[in-house]
Amino acid sequence: MESGKLKVLLSKEEIREKISYLAELVSRDYQGRVPLLVCVLKGAVVFLSDLIRNLKIPVEVDFMAVSSYGSSTVTSGVVRILKDLETSIENKDILIVEDIIDSGLTLSYLRENLLSRNPRSLKIITLLDKPERRVADIEPDYCGFCIPDEFVVGYGLDFNEKYRNLPDICILLEFQR
Ligand code: IMP
Ligand code: MG
Repeated sequence: MESGKLKVLLSKEEIREKISYLAELVSRDYQGRVPLLVCVLKGAVVFLSDLIRNLKIPVEVDFMAVSSYGSSTVTSGVVRILKDLETSIENKDILIVEDIIDSGLTLSYLRENLLSRNPRSLKIITLLDKPERRVADIEPDYCGFCIPDEFVVGYGLDFNEKYRNLPDICILLEFQR
């Protein structure tokens, strides 16, 4: 499946509008505070970069990289931290920035891990959510789009590291898990 067919699910205009809306909510909710946005590499970097440019409050940014054991398209729930945060998050307001929540297993692990470091608060923002596939008990505080159970690429999301550069979010047709 190196050259699968693509069908646009969310256009770059729809994404831009939604991010501006999400940024309004975040700016309002965090008024007077300086949240630390924890971006989960690599898929969420495009979302993060558009989100922070729409925020009307000061923020800090840090990155984490995690990998789940198992194949690239099925999450096992066993997570390994490949890159950790640079600083302590004690007493900070943490906003985890994700590209997509699928089974929720990765994020569930990440949330518990970060909560054990005693932040003042912890919330989750995701651009995409596939609620049908949820296994773990986790819901985002802010969500851009709920999407059907399809494998999507583009706008940071990849299939075997391909397609991250597409400006739209596309369904990878003929995809098999
Ligand atoms: P979860 O632990 O099953 O929620 O896995 C979430 C991670 O799997 C996301 O952060 C993505 O990296 C990846 N993922 C899940 N669904 C898709 C998809 O449709 N396209 C691309 N990556 C996906
Ligand atoms: Mg991800």
